[in-house]
Amino acid sequence: MSEAAVGYAREQGTRFVEELKDLLRIPSVSTAPEHVEDVRKAAEFVAEGLRAAGMEHVRLIETTSDAHKGHPLVYADWLHAEPAADGKAKPTVLLYGHYDVQPAEPLDEWKSPPFEPEVRDGNIYARGAVDDKGQMWMHVKALESVMKTEGKLPVNVRVIIEGEEEVGGEGIAAFVREHGDQLKADAALVSDTEMFAPELPTLCVGLRGMIYTELEARGAATDLHSGMYGGAAPNPFVALAQMIAKMKREDGRIAIPGFYDGIEEPTKAELEAWRKLPFDEEEYRKHEVGSTELTGETMFSVLERTWARPTMDVHGMPGGFTGAGAKTVIPARATAKISFRLVPGMKPEATFAKYKRFVEEICPKGIQVKVSMIHSGEPIVVSTDNRYVHAATQAMAEVFGKETVFIRGGGSIPIVGDFVRELGIPTVMMGFGLSDDNLHAPNEKFHLANFHRGIESIVMFLDRVGSDKPVSTGSRD
Ligand code: BES
Ligand code: MN
Ligand code: MN
Repeated sequence: MSEAAVGYAREQGTRFVEELKDLLRIPSVSTAPEHVEDVRKAAEFVAEGLRAAGMEHVRLIETTSDAHKGHPLVYADWLHAEPAADGKAKPTVLLYGHYDVQPAEPLDEWKSPPFEPEVRDGNIYARGAVDDKGQMWMHVKALESVMKTEGKLPVNVRVIIEGEEEVGGEGIAAFVREHGDQLKADAALVSDTEMFAPELPTLCVGLRGMIYTELEARGAATDLHSGMYGGAAPNPFVALAQMIAKMKREDGRIAIPGFYDGIEEPTKAELEAWRKLPFDEEEYRKHEVGSTELTGETMFSVLERTWARPTMDVHGMPGGFTGAGAKTVIPARATAKISFRLVPGMKPEATFAKYKRFVEEICPKGIQVKVSMIHSGEPIVVSTDNRYVHAATQAMAEVFGKETVFIRGGGSIPIVGDFVRELGIPTVMMGFGLSDDNLHAPNEKFHLANFHRGIESIVMFLDRVGSDKPVSTGSRD
């Protein structure tokens, strides 16, 4: 039954891309207060797309509370799947994506403006093209393709699309905690990750968690002339630099006491599978990273370092004088945006507490330090031994004509952990991004062939999950 839907998706492919362009023109930057209205516009656009696809109960769910000023969720469902021949109800699949995007800056590095989508060489360029508007739109278009050709879906479907993923996903987390029953499902499908290599169908089975923090240092009561006071007054930027340098050793190891306690290592089988992936470290250094050397814990492979080891990074140090030219000042205050990526076995709160205690302890004299958490999310490894993962593995293998590989992702999608822990459902991460898609960077793109293959893979996935025939358990280890 998926042939007709796939045929429809192919026939309508050009229109699907035109619609995606309209969505990409809306600058739904969730972190920027000046874009709140645009974020809402994007939510409404997605809701309209779900309505047009034939979904029911389409609505925006507000997430603003006393504690949180949030962006709306988009909800939809279709819960009329016919029971199987033996009378058993069909499973319910929860489709997840996000319609918010990261800021587009630095603007002058974009070849075409970030919110004026342009197709070049089979890629669509715009902020959000692959992360995650393009991938989320594949879900909407897969639903439309099946609904328009069959008049029904092979499984029950709920859809939840958030507008705060890029700022920590607090709104959806609260909704899942408080109204989890409204998202009741047997499995979740997420398309917000990457393929290991072009043409290689990939399921992502783990994500790192994170804590995103701000470290603030205060010295003098006010900004001071650095000639008059330099030598006697504490400098908060120097203090931050000293603290940061003490937190991460040159060999990549983090020096916070107890930081690595309780970490769960990947299984032997998983490590063995990673060793078989087509990965060339030199190629990666040159073409993906573009640096003269790779850094970090060299006793671990690059894949282990980016998927299964925790890290610390500094994103920016706002404060002081950063304008053109020179100003001789000792700033009274300096901040650093610092995040840690966490792996299974680590807890955001516990890691934060160890970090806080450490910086308070090493804080140079004359400096007051304040540590605050901006957002956090738990690490997750999903189970691969269930019919949903098997269905996804087969669906992708069929569409791409190659065997599906299993990887982890170094990034974070905070809500995935909650799907597994709060809703207790297996989550399938079927992503179609490529390593050169420039997520969060200038010239973000989505390879259009993957947009179309993504739609087909989702159609096939729903078909297999809804099929009366048992999904073969396949094999990967
Ligand atoms: N889609 C990414 C996460 C991702 C990217 C997972 C590549 C696996 C491979 C997501 O939109 C993202 O960027 N998440 C943020 C987390 C958030 C809390 C700011 C991240 O990882 O920095
Ligand atoms: Mn994303
Ligand atoms: Mn992102």
